[in-house]
Amino acid sequence: MAGTTSVATQRSASKLTYFFGALGGLLFGYDLGIVAGALLFIKPDLGLSPVQEGLVVSSLLFGAAIGAIGCGPLSDRTGRRWVVLLAAAIFGAGAIGAALSPGADALIFFRFVMGLAVGTFSAMVPVYLSEIAPPEIRGRLSGLNQLMISTGILVAYLVNLALSPYGAWRLMLGLASAPAIVLLVGLTFLPESPRWLVKRGREDEARAVLGRYREAERVDTEIEDIKQVNRQEEEQLGLRRLLRDPRLRRLLLLGVGLAVFQQIVGINTIIYYAPTILTSLGYGNSAAIIANAGLGAWTVFITIIMLLFVVDRIGRRRPLIFGAWGMVLSMVVLGITFFSAGIQGGAAGWIAIACLVLFKASFSLSWGGIMWIMLGEVFPLRIRGTAMGISSFCNWAANFLVGLTFPILLAAGTGAVFFVFAAIGVLASLFAFFVVPETKGRSLEQIESRLALGKGSA
Ligand code: BGC
Repeated sequence: MAGTTSVATQRSASKLTYFFGALGGLLFGYDLGIVAGALLFIKPDLGLSPVQEGLVVSSLLFGAAIGAIGCGPLSDRTGRRWVVLLAAAIFGAGAIGAALSPGADALIFFRFVMGLAVGTFSAMVPVYLSEIAPPEIRGRLSGLNQLMISTGILVAYLVNLALSPYGAWRLMLGLASAPAIVLLVGLTFLPESPRWLVKRGREDEARAVLGRYREAERVDTEIEDIKQVNRQEEEQLGLRRLLRDPRLRRLLLLGVGLAVFQQIVGINTIIYYAPTILTSLGYGNSAAIIANAGLGAWTVFITIIMLLFVVDRIGRRRPLIFGAWGMVLSMVVLGITFFSAGIQGGAAGWIAIACLVLFKASFSLSWGGIMWIMLGEVFPLRIRGTAMGISSFCNWAANFLVGLTFPILLAAGTGAVFFVFAAIGVLASLFAFFVVPETKGRSLEQIESRLALGKGSA
């Protein structure tokens, strides 16, 4: 069968799979981006107290942390596809529930429910895409997830802009159910991950799936590679075993380090608070919102550059090392601008915009997508689901904590908080230099054997 599939059919089947596979990222991004704008109207409409306001934002992050950690073991048992399918259904229901919420409590609850799905997407989509993709373009394909995330954020900003004059927050939240329904329909046509199928002894099905994406002669070699790795690791490891094995512990540390650094360099303070930063430097409200939408479009553009020219050519490790320096530079200059707060508007405003532009470019060329790509590829198959879940959990928990502490630190004045982020950026670069291995162009099985031999940072 596989041999008779024409190349054209093969190509369009793969494009469709990759598109639907990455659609979860769009939902993830839309939710990150929509809430700040929607809150302006939810607050007076539902009479939110400051605590409730914080909960409307953070309940999604909290749900995401739980979704990310819960979906890993579940997906190792039931398959990647079913878990994403379930998450899409939960997300759609949650989005409709949030849009119809009669009061604050219901809204907080439904945001939590949506969070469960968002966390699941964040952990499962990179795994699914990297398990289907051929090695030479795996970076680009699993990086599609990041493109979808930044597109989701941009779409959210545009929806904010369009619906703000009407104060239509219910529509802002409810619109997220549309791509969820598309994803739900799309997923029914998608295959299960071939690597997961082999692990479950369903080799014929795995062969058929790979045949849809590769030339026939490559399928046999790939199946053999997967089987060989499987033979070395008879059983699926749970968390306790994982923590007892020093080699696996080291890998988990790599994943968790990548996930936590990606957040504590300060990206989401920029996403959530760019308008606040701009207004406190003298911009008017609408100018700040428009500048923010511009930053969203810039991020999408740079993410495309990362996918086309960076991740599968330059690799993963070097962009992580140097991208961090771009972020450090922008945070230092932003901090100095805040310190010399005497200059309101004018020069300070322009310098702040330049810093935000540089920060977003540096993040999107490096830690943004590459972190998720690497999480999908550095863990051995037998622990991939669990370890990915733990790492994404740490990513969401760090996101939650940074979101919680940043406004307090910012209100404390000076710009000291930006210097803290700059210092963390230096640590992130050192972490990439000393701990992160290069995985470009290797098959998942080669990466696994190499990391098993301790050739980490080579
Ligand atoms: C991060 C998000 C962030 C987004 C920005 C993602 O990779 O996980 O926390 O908001 O990138 O583009």
